[in-house]
Amino acid sequence: MEKVATLLAHLIASVLFILSLRGLSSQETSRRGNMLGAAGMLIAILATLTQSEVQGLGNTIPALLVGATIGGFLAARVAMTSMPELVALLHSFVGAAAVLVGFASYLSIEAHAPKTEGFHVTLVSPILLGEIFVDVLIGMITFTGSVVAFLKLKGLVGGAPLLLPGRHFLNLALLLGCFALAVPYGGHPIGGVLWLGLMAVLAGVLGVHLVMAIGGADMPVVVSLLNSYSGWTASAAGFMLGNDLLIVTGALVGSSGAILSIIMCRAMNRSIWNVLFGGFGTASGSMSKAAPVVGEMLEASAAEVGQMLVQSREVVIVPGYGMAVARAQHAVRGLVEDLRRRGIGVRFAIHPVAGRLPGHMNVLLAEADIPYDIVLEMDEINHDFPTTDVVLVIGANDIVNPAALEDPGSPIAGMPVLEVWKSKMVVVMKRGKGAGYAGIDNPLFVRPNTRMLYGDARVSAEALAAALAGRA
Ligand code: TAP
Repeated sequence: MEKVATLLAHLIASVLFILSLRGLSSQETSRRGNMLGAAGMLIAILATLTQSEVQGLGNTIPALLVGATIGGFLAARVAMTSMPELVALLHSFVGAAAVLVGFASYLSIEAHAPKTEGFHVTLVSPILLGEIFVDVLIGMITFTGSVVAFLKLKGLVGGAPLLLPGRHFLNLALLLGCFALAVPYGGHPIGGVLWLGLMAVLAGVLGVHLVMAIGGADMPVVVSLLNSYSGWTASAAGFMLGNDLLIVTGALVGSSGAILSIIMCRAMNRSIWNVLFGGFGTASGSMSKAAPVVGEMLEASAAEVGQMLVQSREVVIVPGYGMAVARAQHAVRGLVEDLRRRGIGVRFAIHPVAGRLPGHMNVLLAEADIPYDIVLEMDEINHDFPTTDVVLVIGANDIVNPAALEDPGSPIAGMPVLEVWKSKMVVVMKRGKGAGYAGIDNPLFVRPNTRMLYGDARVSAEALAAALAGRA
């Protein structure tokens, strides 16, 4: 009876997780998706706690409460721009948990051994040993890789990649070393813990080295990839523990993390191998053979931009990383409301890698209660720029860089971008002449139909709102 109830709870939780992922794929349904995921997790926790073989609830429940309090506190306090480092830290916990569960399972293998009789001795034991091995291997890479990613994102370790000579051979040697240790480990089912430990050390070094070799600016993609690893390690732990919910959940996290990494790489026109083994994303690595940008940047005041806006019929706003840094989204909403009250059409154009994490801009706009129906993806709006009167580029740079399409020597050549320069007038709101993530110049800023509105994005948006308020 208990087994059936557990199975049913696992099934419901799995369905809720799948529905949650589906909900998270669109802005309108993302809140519901989040709630469904939380409900699935609650069911999973309750189903685990109520199993008769789970003992020591007196310790588990206080530990759960402490963990939930710390998690809730961290999540409530974290700034959106620091989200990748929190996520990296959380992935390191998943990796560490998988490694601990792997060792615990190995150490209790003796207790399992008498139960495996007849052909099970040859069939089940090697499978269990293999599951433990894979779990500890991926778990350890995830753990140490995520810790290094966290330290890099936090600035506690330099962002420049550690490019050791022959680093690819070192990675290969470490991986082969791990697999070679499977032989003595498998040969000594009981007593192979030393080999397992040695493999864990090699896997840990591999995780550190893999992430140390990646430029700090590429960390968001790496974090997404580590998210995928954490899913696979959870799945391996599920096989090891005979827990079907963990298998399903791990596979969902593993595959969605992998898909997300690929989407991010595509939107940057790079392959995942280029992120993992290339040098882009370093402060110096991206300054390559791009054509020099010559010309003058024309400045405009808030009053002049306000005048342009009230005379327009169609306005498109392109938010970028600078809007997130300035926390300008609420000021932008005021601006949008004013323009719409005047009968001016306003829409947002969202590039898939605007900001520093997937969906970064969507989250900020949702937080500011911007209606979903005026927030459009790049492919939905790119062909509308020629009929747009004014484009306001708020703290964005690389995602509107025409060099991506026009300069084959540019480090971002081939990256799909928002073709804002095709509109009648572009106003770029940024603090100065600072480069974006790719560290390259942007010829958009010297185009004849571009005006620079210098200043912090929030201050500029407020100044624009004030300028508009002064006009009937
Ligand atoms: P960026 O190209 O990084 O440009 C941001 C611009 O914002 C900077 O040029 C900066 O210029 C300006 N800025 C900074 N703080 C500001 C403030 N307080 N007020 C006004 N402006 C400010 O950003 P983007 O256009 O959003 O492009 C995103 C980049 O990140 C892409 O290259 C993408 O490939 C990369 N990336 C994204 C992701 C994801 S998933 N979103 C992941 C990895 C990498 P000033 O210093 O002159 O103000």
